[in-house]
Amino acid sequence: MSSDVRIRPAEGGLKGRLTLPGDKSISHRVGFFGALSSEGITAENFSSGADCASTLRCLELAGCLVERIGDKVRVRRGINPGEIKAPLDAGNSGTTARLLCGLLAGTPGVFAVITGDESLRKRPMGRVVSPLRTLGARIDGPGGGAYLPLSIRGGCLSGGTFELPMASAQVKTALILAGLNAHGSVTVVEPAKSRDHSERLLRHLGVPLRQEDNRITVYPCSDLPGCSIRVPGDFSSAAFWITGALIVPGSDIVLENVGINPTRTGFLECLKKMGASIEIEEKESAGGEPVGNIRVRYSELEGIEVEKDAIPTMIDELPLLALIATQAHGVTKITHAEELRVKESDRISSMAKGLRALGADVEELEDGFFITGPTPLGGGCVESSKDHRIAMTFSIAALAAQDEIIVKDAQCVGISYPEFFDHLSMLSEGVKDLEYKR
Ligand code: S3P
Repeated sequence: MSSDVRIRPAEGGLKGRLTLPGDKSISHRVGFFGALSSEGITAENFSSGADCASTLRCLELAGCLVERIGDKVRVRRGINPGEIKAPLDAGNSGTTARLLCGLLAGTPGVFAVITGDESLRKRPMGRVVSPLRTLGARIDGPGGGAYLPLSIRGGCLSGGTFELPMASAQVKTALILAGLNAHGSVTVVEPAKSRDHSERLLRHLGVPLRQEDNRITVYPCSDLPGCSIRVPGDFSSAAFWITGALIVPGSDIVLENVGINPTRTGFLECLKKMGASIEIEEKESAGGEPVGNIRVRYSELEGIEVEKDAIPTMIDELPLLALIATQAHGVTKITHAEELRVKESDRISSMAKGLRALGADVEELEDGFFITGPTPLGGGCVESSKDHRIAMTFSIAALAAQDEIIVKDAQCVGISYPEFFDHLSMLSEGVKDLEYKR
C-alpha cells in the first residue's frame, strides 16, 4: 500500500496543546524486560506505533505472555526451550531485531529465525552478532551474520567486557539482555553516552547494575521483578511539533507529559543555543524517567556547530535539525553523524536530496551536512524513502513552505506515530482539509 500526502503551509502558525503517544524506545523495553520477569511489566500509554507492535508480536510468537487492553500492555516471561516455528518478523524495527538477538542468544534450547522488511534486511546486524558470539552465542546469517535473516540457537553465555566502536543503545541493550541471562557479568563501554532507558528501567525494578559515565555492568538475574509504569510521551515525536512551532511564524504550542530524559534531549540543548524560545515545566517522573511540559514559540534562530558528543543524544532528531538549519541565520554544521546512513533510510542522503529539491542550500558530507540559511522553502514533491522520520520531517517542512508539498509514501508515519496527521490537523488550522490518499 502506498499513499502520498499533500500539505499546505500553516498560515497563522501552530497553536494549542498536545499530549504525545507513549515513547517507542521505552515501550520496546517494557516488552523485552517483561519477557524476563514472571511477574511481568505492565505499561500504560504503550507506544501505538507499528515498531512496538512488531516487538509484541515477536515476543508472543516466542512464547511470552502478552496482554493488551487499550493503551495498556502487560508482558510476562514464557519462552520455552524448543524451536520457534514461525520466523520472528521484526518488520521495520531495528530495535526489535537487535534486542531479540540479545534476548534469545542466552535462552538455552531455543531455536529462532529473525527477519525483517526490505529496509531492515539491509541494516547492519554484525554490531550485535559479533559481541554476542564472543559471549558464546550461536548466530548465523548472510555475510557471516552481518544481515538478517539470522538464525539463533540459544545457549549458556559467559560474561565479558565490550568496548563498542559506536554509541548505540540498541547494541548496549542487546548485551544487557544477554548479560541478565549469562553466567558472568557483562560490561559495555560506549564512546559516548547513548539513551539510558534500559538502565533506568532496571534500576526502577531494583535490579543491581553498576554505572560510571559511559560504562555499565549487569549481573546474571534468573527472574526480574515486575512493575507497573506509565510510559511518558515520546520526545522524538514531540520534536516534530517543536520544529514546526520554531519555524512557522506566529506559533505557540505546549506539549504535555513528554519524556525529557537528558540522554534524549540533546536537540533541545542545541535549539536553545540557536536562540529558540523553549520553556520546560518539570512534572512528576514516571518509571524512573523525567517528564515535563514543553512550551515552544516561533523564534529567530542562528546557525550552530553541533558537538560530537551531543550526536547520540539527538540521533533521531538530526533530520529535523537539518530542516531547522535551512531557516536559521548562518551555517549549521552537523558532523560525526555517519550513523544516519544506516537508519531506516540513508537519512543524510534522504534529507540532502529533499531539502535541495525545496530550494535549501545543503552540502552533503560523508558524516553529516553543512547547511546555510535562511532560504525560503518552495513547494514540490519529496520522497520519504519509506522512512517514517523523513516523511514526518518533510510534512513539517510543508507547514513552513511557500507552497504546498506532496510527501510520497507517507503511510510509513505509522511506524512510530500513527496519530501524526491527526495531530497536524489539530495544531494547524491551515491544514484541516489534509488530503491523505490511501
Ligand atoms: C533506539 C536507539 C537508537 C535510535 C532508535 C531507537 C533504541 O539507535 O536511533 O530509533 O530504542 O534503543 P542506536 O542503536 O543507534 O542508539
